[in-house]
Amino acid sequence: MKVNKEKRLAAEAAISHVADGMCLGVGTGSTVAIFIELLAEKISAEGISITAVPSSYATLLQLHDVGVPTIPLGCVASVPCAVDGADEVDAKLAMIKGGGAALLREKILAEAAQQFVIMVDNAKLVKALGTRVPIPVEVLPEALAIAMDRIQQLGGSPMLRQAERKAGPVITDNGNFILDVTVPKISNPAKLDKDLKLIPGVIESGLFPDQADIIYVGQEKGVKLLQR
Ligand code: A5P
Repeated sequence: MKVNKEKRLAAEAAISHVADGMCLGVGTGSTVAIFIELLAEKISAEGISITAVPSSYATLLQLHDVGVPTIPLGCVASVPCAVDGADEVDAKLAMIKGGGAALLREKILAEAAQQFVIMVDNAKLVKALGTRVPIPVEVLPEALAIAMDRIQQLGGSPMLRQAERKAGPVITDNGNFILDVTVPKISNPAKLDKDLKLIPGVIESGLFPDQADIIYVGQEKGVKLLQR
């Protein structure tokens, strides 16, 4: 499939950031899953040693399956590099993340990363954020009604994300709910990110206005590099 090929191309480009002895942040999602396969191949082919800091249980389990040792996110204030996927990327390298509900830990990982490297397929490039996907917002269950009301006052339309193979809402790795928020026009992602987080009980937003340093975009004929 074209999308999988593009994700693989982006992941192959991101592998060049991995160096022997590195403590590497590893995000979440289907593109990251491809990256982890490539990482395991590189470790075994080159005999290098890597420690990974995962941003979700999904990533922790996959890293464990392929034999990469891990350190909990909460034990690390800085990593030289972290790699992750994204759901949308605009021309200024602002992103929406959290399609896999891992946005809170991904934002912590992005903060720890001296270099935050993103891998996406070409469909994720957008003219304006919010055109393909809503903004995921992680909310304390006790703040659900308040958060929905205040997000509506900000002009957004929140929908509680429902689980697919569990009755009721998605529960994040942190025990919270996800609101998928549609906004008519996101003119200032950094301001909207701050405004959302000023609502009591909103823990994190999936807007990543300025975290990405390097974005590899897998395309039909190769990889496009976007750099801050
Ligand atoms: C996880 O919560 C997300 O931020 C992912 O990084 C994002 O959804 C990209 O996922 P895919 O690589 O599966 O498209």
